[in-house]
Amino acid sequence: MPYSGLDLTGRKALVTGAARGIGAALAVGLAQAGADVAASDLPTATARAGLADTVRRIHDAGRAGFGCDLDVSDVASVGPTLERVASGLGGLDILVNNAGIRRRAPALEVTEDDWDAVLDTNLKGAFFCAQAAARLMIPHGFGRIISISSQLALVGAPHRAAYCASKAGLANLTRVLALEWAEYGITVNAIGPGPTTTPGLLAADARDADAVQAELSVKMPLGRRMDAEELVGAAIYLASDSAGATTGHLLVVDGGWTAI
Ligand SMILES: NC(=O)c1ccc[n+]([C@@H]2O[C@H](COP(=O)([O-])OP(=O)(O)OC[C@H]3O[C@@H](n4cnc5c(N)ncnc54)[C@H](O)[C@@H]3O)[C@@H](O)[C@H]2O)c1
Repeated sequence: MPYSGLDLTGRKALVTGAARGIGAALAVGLAQAGADVAASDLPTATARAGLADTVRRIHDAGRAGFGCDLDVSDVASVGPTLERVASGLGGLDILVNNAGIRRRAPALEVTEDDWDAVLDTNLKGAFFCAQAAARLMIPHGFGRIISISSQLALVGAPHRAAYCASKAGLANLTRVLALEWAEYGITVNAIGPGPTTTPGLLAADARDADAVQAELSVKMPLGRRMDAEELVGAAIYLASDSAGATTGHLLVVDGGWTAI
């Protein structure tokens, strides 16, 4: 008989920032593992078009799902949106806090707007989504909250002050929430991806291919950027019954970046 501990059949999931990149891959991957999935992203025409494609792939996997607007930095909208998502799916068992932005600048040139934009999305948004999700999960005594942090939660990188602060904050926030919500049957974990080819990463990196490869040769034993699909198994595990005793953990999937 096949192992069933990773089967998400019957689970209801929300993935934020799911119009493209890692969020889209995780939304589709959770559906392929059996979950019904709501995919949310910014209330823009571009994001809605991306969500439509993500939702089509969720349906292709044979699962129910829909797209919805959610700017995670708009805290007032988070609770009502998650309530609508839970109502639409018939519950909420899994939250993937994936929405995130990057703004590269030397620390001496970072503006207050840069700092606030990155922290409001990557850290504050993730916290209030987790809080709203936990409020919906507690009455059912089960929940899986997974935040997409970064390998840069553990090590620094030049020109990434706000980003590194947000991702390190998210990793330690994960531990606090794991401690507080364990008694409710909710596990709280984070994934720390290394460099992964996505639209957001490519847009933020103006270097030519030789410069990128030179860095990867030194910093990343894998020797290449990852594909978003290489993060799916980690998310399925952390969302599954198999991970019931795994909480407060940062699961680094970084091609060896932090092993050096
Ligand atoms: N790609 C990488 O190398 C890498 C590495 C480590 C961590 N991460 C993290 O993974 C997550 C996804 O990154 P990606 O590379 O797929 O990025 P991406 O830019 O390709 O996609 C991010 C998605 O989030 C959405 N988004 C941005 N701000 C939002 C907001 N306020 N509310 C809701 N949605 C919002 C965007 O519209 C977009 O669809 C981010 O948290 C990022 O920090 C990425």
